[in-house]
Amino acid sequence: MPSNGGWLLALSVAALTVNTIGAATSERTERNCSVTPPYLPSTAVNTTIRLQELREHMLPMNISAYIIPGTDAHLSEYIAPRDARVAFMTGFTGSAGSVVVTQTKASLWTDSRYWVQAERQMDCNWDLETDFSIGSVAEWLIAEVPPGGEIGFDPFLFSLSDNKDQQRLWTTDEKDCARCSSKSHTHWCLSGLFNMRGNDIPYNPFFYSYTLLTMDEIWLFVHMNRVTDDLKEYLNASCDGALCVQLKSYDSVLDHVKQYVATPGVKVWIGTEYTNYALYEIITPQDKLMTSTYSPVLMAKAVKDETEQRILRDAHIRDAVAVVQLLMWLEKVVPNGKETELSAAEYVNHARSKQKDNRGPSFETISASGPNAALAHYSPTNDTSRKLTVDEMYLVDSGGQYLDGTTDITRTVHWGNPTALQKEAFTRVLMGNIEISRTIFPTGTRGVNMEMLGRRALWELGLNYGHGTGHGVGNYFGVHEWPVGFQSNNIPFRAGMFTSIEPGFYKENDFGIRIEDVVVIVPVDTKYGHNYLTFDTVSLVPYDRKLIDTSLLSSEQLQWLNRYYETIRRLLVPELDSQGLHEEKKWVLTNTEPFIHSGSSATTTFSSSLTIFLLGITVLHNVIEAF
Ligand SMILES: *[C@@H]1O[C@H](CO)[C@@H](O)[C@H](O)[C@H]1NC(C)=O
Ligand SMILES: *[C@@H]1O[C@H](CO)[C@@H](O)[C@H](O)[C@H]1NC(C)=O
Ligand SMILES: *[C@@H]1O[C@H](CO)[C@@H](O)[C@H](O)[C@H]1NC(C)=O
Ligand SMILES: *[C@@H]1O[C@H](CO)[C@@H](O)[C@H](O)[C@H]1NC(C)=O
Ligand SMILES: *[C@@H]1O[C@H](CO)[C@@H](O)[C@H](O)[C@H]1NC(C)=O
Repeated sequence: MPSNGGWLLALSVAALTVNTIGAATSERTERNCSVTPPYLPSTAVNTTIRLQELREHMLPMNISAYIIPGTDAHLSEYIAPRDARVAFMTGFTGSAGSVVVTQTKASLWTDSRYWVQAERQMDCNWDLETDFSIGSVAEWLIAEVPPGGEIGFDPFLFSLSDNKDQQRLWTTDEKDCARCSSKSHTHWCLSGLFNMRGNDIPYNPFFYSYTLLTMDEIWLFVHMNRVTDDLKEYLNASCDGALCVQLKSYDSVLDHVKQYVATPGVKVWIGTEYTNYALYEIITPQDKLMTSTYSPVLMAKAVKDETEQRILRDAHIRDAVAVVQLLMWLEKVVPNGKETELSAAEYVNHARSKQKDNRGPSFETISASGPNAALAHYSPTNDTSRKLTVDEMYLVDSGGQYLDGTTDITRTVHWGNPTALQKEAFTRVLMGNIEISRTIFPTGTRGVNMEMLGRRALWELGLNYGHGTGHGVGNYFGVHEWPVGFQSNNIPFRAGMFTSIEPGFYKENDFGIRIEDVVVIVPVDTKYGHNYLTFDTVSLVPYDRKLIDTSLLSSEQLQWLNRYYETIRRLLVPELDSQGLHEEKKWVLTNTEPFIHSGSSATTTFSSSLTIFLLGITVLHNVIEAF
């Protein structure tokens, strides 16, 4: 699944309209605040009272503006319903949004994926701000907050690094920042440090906690009612003194850290990216503080050891069985015209649930047909679910949580006759995936320095995509596991890291293509150098043959593809055998037949150029329309 562009991480997601989506209905679905009385659809939430209450709280504190971000105290990308502050205040339930409220104005910032949804869910108390960047929020605040005015926010909901940006902002404009506060993905680290899992957040096996790890003590701050006797025993098993974990209540973390910091001679190390400002601001004086961008736990967790690598690969073999079952089933049933995006999503979730050690999906399945697939983060609802037909392309981006690993894979298929543009774009997205996957690079190369390889084949035609190219994944953890990936704030690649590779192409109101595989970074022998690495693909599902134009592939790309298909046969077929899935085995063997370069056969070349000649005018017409 493509990673989100956060508030600070503005990704240029192309503006997409979704007017055409959904059950045809004559009822207007978006609010209109410029008529009297305002027009509000039935999906709009009346926020008058809650907004009034917030403003009443701001008055005695003399706060001119109050900021509410869309995260939790651990700066999570996915939040639990109890942390859905933006949704509560505004009615808007999209996964990316920030809010600022003054006595007279209330604004929501979200990116283009969510504009339509926001117009459907918000009432006229709210303005929708469409420039989703920190600069836009800053300009808005500068315009609305009087000189000397105070800006309020919850210090638990902002990271130290967010806060530095904000302080810079205020000091530049000579405004006081009296109530600055901050945010952290601490539960990722902590689940990893103790090898524990919880279920505080949907799809993510995390639990809310903080830890203070000192030279002679380990403190874990956690909601006590979540801790079972087994867990207590586990934490204290085969330990003595300094290695035993001492439990304290989640809410006592500030007091405890304050007390610890008061001890003479101590120094506290925190990661600035994922530690909230509330914890940071009590570590004083400054010389007691040591910082790095990411906590050392997060850095250690990014590199999987041999056992973690083995079991994460194993999880991907079983996961491939479920995805193959979906693709095979769809091929059979779609022509009957009864299946929908939702029924396909249910099918793959169910297929996964039958695999050993599955603990549900790793995120809400993206099952998207035709124009719905052009929305990068679309998941079907009862209102929007399209019927699947042989006339439209279909994209399914899904993953599972297993006790041994987290998976995430996207395949795009067409059950009828793809257009020339669909086939060409699909092939070029595949070329991007292959170009990254087959790259050999020195240890320590950054993903951001090779991600254009995923775009190059598209760029040659003036095509592109508006999301990231890949993200880390965990061993039964988050499906977006920072700090591994291809963005500029990701860490350099080392052997043992897992990342997704997922280029795509989206044509507004028409179709969407994404090809996503998870890969592990492995050492490779080179003729002269040492310490070189490459990617080894661990997702094991063949691509739709119908959409691949092999004449576009270089011989190296074709060779890579054939080797990948051999790997699928070698690893997946024995698993299908052991599960007694004969039909699936046959399907996999058929769909992993080696490709022969079309350039190597005179007959093929002749017949395809003949076709091109005959269809020349039609094709040209389509291409002009398509662009
Ligand atoms: C709101 O209604 C007015 C009057 O019918 C119309 O001119 C305007 O375009 C509408 N605005 C939106 C956003 O629908
Ligand atoms: C919203 O709720 C307030 C308070 O109950 C009420 O006065 C107002 O009329 C409601 N607005 C709409 C549009 O229904
Ligand atoms: C409240 O803030 C205003 C500036 O917005 C300032 O002039 C005023 O003195 C403040 N009042 C109190 C009681 O702090
Ligand atoms: C573990 O043992 C230590 C020392 O005996 C004790 O202080 C601590 O409370 C125990 N922790 C748990 C989680 O039972
Ligand atoms: C769709 O509607 C059915 C029946 O009302 C309901 O059980 C189901 O949860 C809904 N699904 C979604 C994704 O909203």
